[in-house]
Amino acid sequence: MKHFLDIHQTDASDLRGMIDTAHAMKTARNGRPKGAPDDDQPLQGRMVALIFEKPSTRTRVSFDVGVRQMGGQTMVLSGKEMQLGHGETIADTARVLSRYVDLIMIRTFEEATLLEMAEHASVPVINGLTNRTHPCQIMADVMTYEEHRGPIAGKKVVWCGDGNNVCASFLDAAGQFGFDFTFTGPETLDPEDKFVGFAREKGSRVTIQRDPFTAVEGADLVVTDTWVSMHDPESAKERRHNQLRPYQVNEQLMSRAKPDALFMHCLPAHRDDEATSAVMDGPHSVIFDEAENRLHAQKAIMRWSLGL
Ligand code: CP
Repeated sequence: MKHFLDIHQTDASDLRGMIDTAHAMKTARNGRPKGAPDDDQPLQGRMVALIFEKPSTRTRVSFDVGVRQMGGQTMVLSGKEMQLGHGETIADTARVLSRYVDLIMIRTFEEATLLEMAEHASVPVINGLTNRTHPCQIMADVMTYEEHRGPIAGKKVVWCGDGNNVCASFLDAAGQFGFDFTFTGPETLDPEDKFVGFAREKGSRVTIQRDPFTAVEGADLVVTDTWVSMHDPESAKERRHNQLRPYQVNEQLMSRAKPDALFMHCLPAHRDDEATSAVMDGPHSVIFDEAENRLHAQKAIMRWSLGL
């Protein structure tokens, strides 16, 4: 039993194995209906708890569908409706859930909640997003890049905008999968030093470049995300929009990337803020493949966690 808490905490060869498994499982489904079972049913007889303390569309649906395709069952729990939201400790919740279910996926605010859940659970815990990281998303993004363009190792990935939790997991992936990473955004929204340091220690060339047009020059992949994350206060919205407007991904900016560059956004997006609809729906965009690949990548993560 292995927790999937963060990309930097997971062995690089295991991460590669999960991406390969995800590709193989996607190919094996070969266009069959979404509700049809996989040929093998590794989660048969297993129960998975999906806990959400924040809203979700992709994470919720892709985990639920993925478990069912692999023969398991799910229960979706809202943090507010659980005793967790009314004073029961995370440790006790972890111990209790471990008596009922075979795997726990949690989307929560503080990283400390995830870590405490993992420390006290006797079943695997998967990080479905915290304020600090979003590893399942980036596993799907690596899978998506490689599906379209082959190995991501050695490629130039440029992140535009806010150095948020998704950016942090991209930096983790730069270190583990061996690609170069350029961040372009205002200094106040730089990614945490810890994530930059990890990627550099692993040999990734990490560049901080304030000018977005210089940053995107020669990019293989351009990525952005919402300017105001779920955990940011509403009062920060106007200031962030003013700070981040120069980093909008539009056709002019994309034209500085390589001609075959891909564009990614983990969604949900605020169209015509962080990226224009022309880019989101344009020839470089693979945003809906990314969303689909959450399903396949997470199925591989669950198999790895349970040793199946
Ligand atoms: N990208 C992502 O995690 O989407 P949801 O917030 O809809 O789960």
